[in-house]
Amino acid sequence: MAMWGGRFQEATLSVFRDFNDSLSFDYLLAQQDIQASRAWAQQLAQANIISNDEAAQLDTALADLSVAIDADPKLPLQTREEDIHSWVEAQLTTTLGAVAKKLHTGRSRNDLVATDLRLWSKLNAQGVRQSLLGAIAALINFAEQAGTAVMPGFTHLQRAQPVLVAHWALAYIEMFKRDLSRLDDATTRLDVCPLGCGALAGTGVAIDRQQLAQRLGFASAALNSLDAVSDRDYVVELSAAASICMTHLSRLSEDVIFFCSGEAGFFKLGDAISSGSSLMPQKKNPDVFELLRGKTGRVLGHLVAILHVLKGLPLAYNKDMQEDKQGFFDLMSTWQQSLLVLATVLPHLSVNKTQCRQAAELGYSNATDLADYLVSKGMPFRDAHEVVGELVVHAAKQQLALEALPLAEMQQFSQLISNDVYPALQLEAGLQKRAALGGTAPQQVLAALAQAKVWFEAV
Ligand code: ARG
Repeated sequence: MAMWGGRFQEATLSVFRDFNDSLSFDYLLAQQDIQASRAWAQQLAQANIISNDEAAQLDTALADLSVAIDADPKLPLQTREEDIHSWVEAQLTTTLGAVAKKLHTGRSRNDLVATDLRLWSKLNAQGVRQSLLGAIAALINFAEQAGTAVMPGFTHLQRAQPVLVAHWALAYIEMFKRDLSRLDDATTRLDVCPLGCGALAGTGVAIDRQQLAQRLGFASAALNSLDAVSDRDYVVELSAAASICMTHLSRLSEDVIFFCSGEAGFFKLGDAISSGSSLMPQKKNPDVFELLRGKTGRVLGHLVAILHVLKGLPLAYNKDMQEDKQGFFDLMSTWQQSLLVLATVLPHLSVNKTQCRQAAELGYSNATDLADYLVSKGMPFRDAHEVVGELVVHAAKQQLALEALPLAEMQQFSQLISNDVYPALQLEAGLQKRAALGGTAPQQVLAALAQAKVWFEAV
């Protein structure tokens, strides 16, 4: 029977009921609903609303229920209760009878659901955090394995300047470090307890809400009842943090997919993480990275959806808010799974160092170094840019690298060029020069990697 049957004289239409009920998805909040209910029962006893004996009965029954849910998380789905809050109460009523009916004194499903979802968010944010750290650790290992291997760096997907493979991996480590701080930030802000705010105006029971918050492991109690029951900022914030992090995962995936292509051939996927084609026997596909890229779309969709659910809502609770759950549950598990998958597959991704180096030497990637060389001889950079541009056209016509041009030919473009241009055009020389903080010079990259490890140990 519904929790609110008294005022109603007609039976609920089944089409409405199916539309209205949330048990099919909010059963995932069972443990949190039990946790919140146990704390509430204690507070009711403390406020002399129920006796200590009744509180103890409720506590035992709720603890038993928690064990039952542990054993079978889908237990609630065997019933036709409206939502998880009704289910927990119905179970208590079956075991305890009249005492169970006292539990809902002074509370509402509005403050209860807000509490349950925050507890669930805190727990699951911890899970994501572990997986994010796992992904960072895997990237640190990847960078370490790559050593000083060099590959082409791209802008506009055109070969631009050589970079260390480890420098590429460290770029994603920087992104994931920001993602971690966003996650931690959102988690700190959501650590507020709405329970004891009633339906909207506050509870009529003399509850010590700070103590209740503490009992539930929250940092503090929500300060405004209207806000407390209708605030879903934390869902939005975690969804935004997930969306940004997944966008990083997606860009990493796109890079890897390209680097593994026949055209690039910089990276190679291990068999254990690749799939084949049902038709073309030669194919080895990077499905796992394509899926990471694809799942990002789903996560971004959930962020947009929750923002749209909330944007026009008047205070306080509205049933629209029941729509905060399915997308969010999916988002949090997709996020965590994606990070776990990345950490798992990275060790199976190898770098073809020879191919990377050959590619880095092609495509006039050292043109900037030639311009810098002319600058070192006294030519203004803008002029040097022009001269080297002409030299590139000249070399390309003969299908030669810049360093393959005879000195006399180069000197036709500038008399400032002399024999010492050849060492300056070497790949290593170009790399060594990018030694300022954040650059791809090997000693900078090694220092950055060492720093990333220090950061990881401290986090
Ligand atoms: N199932 C509801 C939800 O998820 C619980 C709160 C119901 N509150 C109400 N006033 N009908 O939002």
